[in-house]
Amino acid sequence: MVTIVGMGPGSKRFITNYALEKIRKANVLVGGKRHIEEFEDIECEKIIINASTDYSSILKKEGNIVILASGDPLLYGIAEVILKYVDKDKVEIIPGISSVQYMCAKLKITMNDLTIVSLHGRDDDLVKELKSKKKVAVFTDDKHTPQFIASSLKEQDFKDIKIYVGENLSYDMEKIYSFTVEELSNCNIKFDLNVVVITCGNT
Ligand SMILES: C[S@@+](CC[C@H](N)C(=O)[O-])C[C@H]1O[C@@H](n2cnc3c(N)ncnc32)[C@H](O)[C@@H]1O
Repeated sequence: MVTIVGMGPGSKRFITNYALEKIRKANVLVGGKRHIEEFEDIECEKIIINASTDYSSILKKEGNIVILASGDPLLYGIAEVILKYVDKDKVEIIPGISSVQYMCAKLKITMNDLTIVSLHGRDDDLVKELKSKKKVAVFTDDKHTPQFIASSLKEQDFKDIKIYVGENLSYDMEKIYSFTVEELSNCNIKFDLNVVVITCGNT
């Protein structure tokens, strides 16, 4: 059986009890380094994944295969990849708190009218989304940094834009910043793991 477990933003405090129950019963635990390291106390086979991981051989293993997904597995997450290899009826997906949900809770802004865009390993048209939606959350990566986002918004005629950066959300070293486009374009902080929320106008 394959179980894909949503780990929430990172800190163990935000994993559901049901997800923890499944993790404790794993024979094979699969995930990124930062997630696997949370479970040093669990004795089972552990596989750290990266961009070149061959999932087909992992998914042929015997026993309970538990895959740790960051945030929610179905929001730009690993579930999409795993479902290409395994029949839907042989997979259980346990939802998790997305880093975007966590960030909105910190900012105390509603998600009713929020659009979520991923620039993590892809190029979506952020400017187009912001023109029509006014409130956009962005998953970033090393190339699509908060400063990259600010630069792409700089030449546009948006009113009252605020850009919030949530760094290392839920961990002890969590930081939440608020910038104007100008401030962020000129900022030389090298942000660690982060998600960006942009509001435009009176949202
Ligand atoms: C491939 S996406 C997966 C998103 C995930 N499924 C979710 O629901 O949060 C990975 C991106 O999520 C964001 N992210 C995940 N955990 C985070 C955290 N603890 N703090 C800030 N951003 C985080 C970052 O933008 C990261 O590049």
